[in-house]
Amino acid sequence: MKRIGLLTSGGDCQALNATLRGVAKGLYNLYGNEVELYGFIDGYKGLVYEDYKKMTPLDFTGLLTVGGTILGSSRMPFKKIREPDENGLDKVEAMKYTYRRLRLDCLVVLGGNGSQKTANLLSEEGLNVIGLPKTIDNDLWGTDTTFGFQSAITLATDVIDCIHTTASSHNRIFIVEIMGHKTGWLTLNAGIAGGADIILIPEIPYDIDCIVEKIKRRAAAGNGFTIIAVAEGAVSKKVAKMEKAERKQHFAEYKYPSVSYEIADKITEKTGKEVRVTVPGHMQRGGVPCAYDRVLSSRLGAAAAQMIYHEEYGVMVAIQEHVITSVPLSEVAGKLKLVDPESDIIAEARLLGISFGND
Ligand code: F6P
Repeated sequence: MKRIGLLTSGGDCQALNATLRGVAKGLYNLYGNEVELYGFIDGYKGLVYEDYKKMTPLDFTGLLTVGGTILGSSRMPFKKIREPDENGLDKVEAMKYTYRRLRLDCLVVLGGNGSQKTANLLSEEGLNVIGLPKTIDNDLWGTDTTFGFQSAITLATDVIDCIHTTASSHNRIFIVEIMGHKTGWLTLNAGIAGGADIILIPEIPYDIDCIVEKIKRRAAAGNGFTIIAVAEGAVSKKVAKMEKAERKQHFAEYKYPSVSYEIADKITEKTGKEVRVTVPGHMQRGGVPCAYDRVLSSRLGAAAAQMIYHEEYGVMVAIQEHVITSVPLSEVAGKLKLVDPESDIIAEARLLGISFGND
């Protein structure tokens, strides 16, 4: 009998359930009745505090199109993983204890950056672990794309599309703030798909004067409205140059709810024009997975089942150049996949007339 643990960790996204379904279907088809699945509740917390449920094949039916996660999720920051909890419990030892008490053969972790670091730690501690690349941010190193990313692009694009019609009716400047944490993948793709005029991403620090110039150029050419897609992590050239401590201080004293409001304020100051800000926020993580994510997560899930079958542990399942593969967790852990400012997609976007606020 094989015993497999499953958990979903960190911020949720659209295809978590579809991925769980893929893993489960793969395992049940490979092992028949000779496999038991245990779902841990609310991510690593369930593993620490022995909160789990024994799953049945029926638990995984009807999940392909369901957003969120049937197991629940939570954040357990990696940098505090070695700190005892409020009752003095050693969380890492507790996770190892639960794994051994349930006599698990493998733990499958559906998670983003922080979660894969913890997965790697558990692997280094001797547990059999397989990671699956989840996040709308697409910032996981070692995989070309992550599940959740395409669904979030679709949602963020829908928002820009809606803003486009109202912006053109009123000849207004609009900012749409898009998630993505410290990277610009989501904003870049939704910005291009939604026909944004200016795209601001953390990897290309902006200069407010360049943004204003672009707005003026558009107005002079007869375009009364401008759409700016701003990544939540976008930074000005000034902030990008700051040392860590100075930057910390800057944000401690920050008077805006987010960077978009600062940019809006500065544009108004420099042009006298009003600027509206739209923040779709967690909508971008919600709802049904798009068709691409359903296919991707099903493939990744099935591949995880295969890897368990072949006892290939200590890896994250990935997709590279359309091929499903695996990368060692030790290579994934602690690395961020950033947008390369010199990449083709940026050059192509510039050729389309999109400004990145630095030209
Ligand atoms: O990592 C996914 C993500 O949605 C990021 O884009 C965003 O910065 C963050 O999570 C928001 O986290 P929370 O849901 O904890 O507010």
